[in-house]
Amino acid sequence: MRDLAAFVYLAVIVVVTLPAINAGGYEALSFNTPLAHQIMREAKSAGMRAYLNSSVRPCDDFYAYACGNYARINPATEQSTSTDLFTTLNGGYQRHVRQLLRQPKLTSDSGTEMRVKYFYDSCLNRTMWQQRAQLLQLFKELGGLPALEGSAWDEFSFDAVELMAQLLRRFGKITLLNVKVAPGIAYSQTNRLYFGQHTDPLGEQASPWAQLLSDDLLLQRNLQQLLGLSAEIAHSTAVELIKLQLKLLRSKGEPSEHVPRLVMLSELDTPGLNLTRFVRSWLGLNYQLPVYEYVPSYLRQLQQLLASTPKRVLANYMLSTLLNDFMLEQVATEEQQQQLCARKTSELFETYVQHMVYAELALQNPQIPGMLRGLWQEQKLAFEQLLRHSWLDASTLEQALAKLKAMSFYIMGTEAQELEQHYDELVISSADYFGNVQRILELRGQQLRLRLQLVPNPKLYEGMPMSPFYVPAYNRVFIPASFLQHRYFWDEAYPMALKYATVGYSLAQELAHGFDDYSRRFDEQGSLRNWWQQNATAEFEQRRQCLLAQFSEGPTMPDENIAANVGVAIAFQAYSNWLQQQTSELELESLPRMSHSPQQLFFLGLAQLWCSDLLPQLRKLLDSNVAYTPHEQRLQSMLANSLAFAETYACEQNSRMNPTHKCLIF
Ligand SMILES: *[C@@H]1O[C@H](CO)[C@@H](O)[C@H](O)[C@H]1NC(C)=O
Ligand SMILES: *[C@@H]1O[C@H](CO)[C@@H](O)[C@H](O)[C@H]1NC(C)=O
Ligand SMILES: *[C@@H]1O[C@H](CO)[C@@H](O)[C@H](O)[C@H]1NC(C)=O
Ligand SMILES: *[C@@H]1O[C@H](CO)[C@@H](O)[C@H](O)[C@H]1NC(C)=O
Repeated sequence: MRDLAAFVYLAVIVVVTLPAINAGGYEALSFNTPLAHQIMREAKSAGMRAYLNSSVRPCDDFYAYACGNYARINPATEQSTSTDLFTTLNGGYQRHVRQLLRQPKLTSDSGTEMRVKYFYDSCLNRTMWQQRAQLLQLFKELGGLPALEGSAWDEFSFDAVELMAQLLRRFGKITLLNVKVAPGIAYSQTNRLYFGQHTDPLGEQASPWAQLLSDDLLLQRNLQQLLGLSAEIAHSTAVELIKLQLKLLRSKGEPSEHVPRLVMLSELDTPGLNLTRFVRSWLGLNYQLPVYEYVPSYLRQLQQLLASTPKRVLANYMLSTLLNDFMLEQVATEEQQQQLCARKTSELFETYVQHMVYAELALQNPQIPGMLRGLWQEQKLAFEQLLRHSWLDASTLEQALAKLKAMSFYIMGTEAQELEQHYDELVISSADYFGNVQRILELRGQQLRLRLQLVPNPKLYEGMPMSPFYVPAYNRVFIPASFLQHRYFWDEAYPMALKYATVGYSLAQELAHGFDDYSRRFDEQGSLRNWWQQNATAEFEQRRQCLLAQFSEGPTMPDENIAANVGVAIAFQAYSNWLQQQTSELELESLPRMSHSPQQLFFLGLAQLWCSDLLPQLRKLLDSNVAYTPHEQRLQSMLANSLAFAETYACEQNSRMNPTHKCLIF
């Protein structure tokens, strides 16, 4: 058993380091020989088998079967509090970033490439004591951090709404209230102001809650190590902030509440949360145009929280959002310092770093963007087949197909020109880390305000997501550059089943998001318009409720479950289409030492996308505190509702993975 495990590790390492070898300048090295393919297939098989717990029957618990050994191989630790494929993918992405940042500066580098490299240098060369003094000074300018000032903190001058406005104005920081500048929903050709929920639970993140909680563990460490608070105060402060954070997140609102509503600012004003005053402080002018409000229950809850939370907690909470940007953890080795600085650089130059990684990956694997596009078309076709055979009436179907047809696909980081302009005036100095961060955040604050006067530009999407996401206003799916690191998912040498189950499924899930309970209200142009016949709406709602009822044991993110429910059907259909087109023997649709049929491999590959581990103390916190769909639950819902899955693994009626009562959206 031990020897086998050693082989497994070796094999996994071979696969994972292949892209790195490529990047090292060995492009000529061929992975296209039959022997190389055979080795890669062996390695893939070993990797998949390593996670399997073959003592579990697939029909009893497919997650335990597919991922039973995952936590043993990839345990969550204090450092990485949750592990899953997306964490691994992010790790690979970060390695690419580090390589790019370490390359020498060339005269052929663009202005922004230079900025990014100098910023990285400044991060490697920062001095902790200087950074701390500068941050304390900044906190002082903003009224002081209560946790540091103790009884000297000036509570009477504190004004939560004013601090919220100042942080947004100076640094583009979102604190208690989410503020977005995005295309209008009734008319998507102009940008509008949106006010609503602090963190968007509709957001597409692998495990947002785990992320949140591990951020808070980090916060505690930072308060202690960077700001020099005593362990006791650091702990009690962090706990207070987590509690506030959870309260802010708990209000999820009904899906219909997420549909923004156009109002005049003054309609939203209350004495405790005066948005007219907030916007005037933020923009420095009286804003007269209508704005969008979404999740109104969140605004009410925020008013309550502002009234009931001690001022020092509010101030600690808002100011500590700057900690992560300005401060760097104390690390032991140069290697760790480089990792940290690469991460910092990609956080602060998000889209531009995506662009650098994209340019490099596309150079190494010029066929990948085309492959993704092809796969996208196949998923679209499969979805069309699915919709045509669904319960939709003729009129709704026609509109749905129009929306599907218009849905577009965009790989992030492909636009160089606009990004250069974006950073055109940014000053970066290799000797001034703190000043650099300050100027980058100031640019963000300024760009946010500026965007209100500009036409929407879908190419400059902010953030650095690790998985694809759908934006209703653009009717477009965005693919992060990290997705081009294909060998984590598929390779020509592997069975195609894996390509359809992983990248194919990810695209399918985003296509499905276009028709989830929120996005279905938007049309092919990205405007809010009800194109559903009354009966179709009623039927959709009934099916959504069916899915919801399956989760009676914990509140969930229903739209994620809808997307998973539909996504798996699309991806399987696309794979079936591909299988049907094959004329020769399907020798390669299997893996050595595995007896899985092509269809079984598809579902196994899909399930292993969701293998994960979470630090026990986080799991406990999650269970008792928040609503979330852990990977395991999502997989269970996805597969237990899939007829194709039950058939593929020949699950008897009423086994856990094949309940008689199924919920299907389409
Ligand atoms: C594998 O499954 C068996 C049967 O359910 C269980 O007893 C065992 O603990 C599992 N192994 C791991 C590593 O989870
Ligand atoms: C909000 O602030 C504005 C400007 O300071 C003021 O005119 C208005 O009366 C305030 N509204 C409420 C409800 O307090
Ligand atoms: C490193 O930082 C110090 C000040 O913090 C500065 O004097 C020095 O020039 C920097 N080194 C480089 C190589 O920029
Ligand atoms: C809508 O549903 C009702 C009741 O099920 C049915 O009688 C009616 O024919 C349906 N209308 C259309 C347009 O399908």
